[in-house]
Amino acid sequence: MASSPSPQPLLRRLPAAVPLLLLLLLAPAADALVCSSQKFSNNVLYSTCLDLPTLSASLHFSYDDANSSAAVAFVAAPPKGEDGWVSWALNPTATGMFGAQALIAFRDAGAMTVKTYNITSTTVRESPISFETWERTAEYNSADGTMRIFAKIKVPAGDPAKLNQVWQVGSSVTNGVPDPHAMAGANLGAKGTLDLVTGTTTAGGGGSGIKKKNIHGILNAVSWGIMFPIGAIIARYVRAFPSADPAWFYLHAFCQTSAYAIGVAGWGTGLKLGSQSTGIQYTGHRNIGIALFALATVQIFALFLRPKKDHKYRFYWNIYHHGLGYTILILGILNVFKGLDILQPDNKWKSAYIILISVLGGVAVVLELITWIVVLKRKKSGEPTKPYDGYNNGQGRQQPLAI
Ligand SMILES: *[C@@H]1O[C@H](CO)[C@@H](O)[C@H](O)[C@H]1NC(C)=O
Ligand SMILES: *[C@@H]1O[C@H](CO)[C@@H](O)[C@H](O)[C@H]1NC(C)=O
Repeated sequence: MASSPSPQPLLRRLPAAVPLLLLLLLAPAADALVCSSQKFSNNVLYSTCLDLPTLSASLHFSYDDANSSAAVAFVAAPPKGEDGWVSWALNPTATGMFGAQALIAFRDAGAMTVKTYNITSTTVRESPISFETWERTAEYNSADGTMRIFAKIKVPAGDPAKLNQVWQVGSSVTNGVPDPHAMAGANLGAKGTLDLVTGTTTAGGGGSGIKKKNIHGILNAVSWGIMFPIGAIIARYVRAFPSADPAWFYLHAFCQTSAYAIGVAGWGTGLKLGSQSTGIQYTGHRNIGIALFALATVQIFALFLRPKKDHKYRFYWNIYHHGLGYTILILGILNVFKGLDILQPDNKWKSAYIILISVLGGVAVVLELITWIVVLKRKKSGEPTKPYDGYNNGQGRQQPLAI
């Protein structure tokens, strides 16, 4: 039947798109190098300025060797303007966020303020920090949208040439408490070493973790979020057309088993990421992921336990197979969105996924209509209306394939 749209070209194009997606996601974002042009309203001059590797942030400082103190100015732009926050921290005990002794600047009851935080979890609470700070002030520069933290600090004991620094920006503050920041690559990579003596900095090597998260995201979005729905569309609609039988079955089985293989790989990367993440747990995303893996495994193996077409239990097997299939479909798409919310990649990725899934939804609606038209036509002309393998009760023609 000529009107039968074949999903085959889409399937063939999909694998080719994966390396492109990978390339785009893994490409580092270019940050503007600006610190030397920054001026401060109080006209303070610092001996050194460093453009930090991510978040377009910069650090200005003058280090006083005699009593190991430093005057610092940290500059960064909160993602959504003046209602957000910026933070700069030294971490005397570790390289990442946990253990960081942070200065966070934001607008509190109308006035810019800087407070100190001993960071022990993703929910921050104002507290004393392990080194002395004084002359703390903050300002918001509406001309370039940056917030600036000014402070003098007593540099923590140890080597002032080997400090761990962490910096961050967030878009909102609720009741005087900075809300958690985004988990994009630039945010997670906002750490590194700071050498106050020579005035240099290195990136913190957060890159590999971010790449792992992006790979995890792509594998799972492609398998659970795109291939499974395509496989379901094939099974539900393409089989209505005699010319597509038994091709639809091979396509469906191929699509779902490859989706499952990719999904298992993605699931594995997720478990690994979960075990490596200290202090942060995405319980909902994780539990849905585990449920998806379990349901899909049952679904794949149920293929082997399928009763013959004319077996009396085939009817129940079909109900079970379809029920499980739709559950996986919904949970898969839901978890892709949960993952997108955690990873917070550029908006274009979420938009791209929404567009893709809407197109698939649209295709399903059109095919549903076509199927009904075909079924009604057949009814009129007295042909059998059953899809071509006994869609509901096994009355159709013999299944040509035994897996
Ligand atoms: C260190 O010396 C500077 C410059 O003399 C002074 O302003 C600052 O207060 C001193 N800091 C400490 C912690 O003594
Ligand atoms: C910061 O929190 C940790 C963990 O609760 C604690 O061990 C440490 O003493 C705190 N540091 C300061 C300066 O309060």
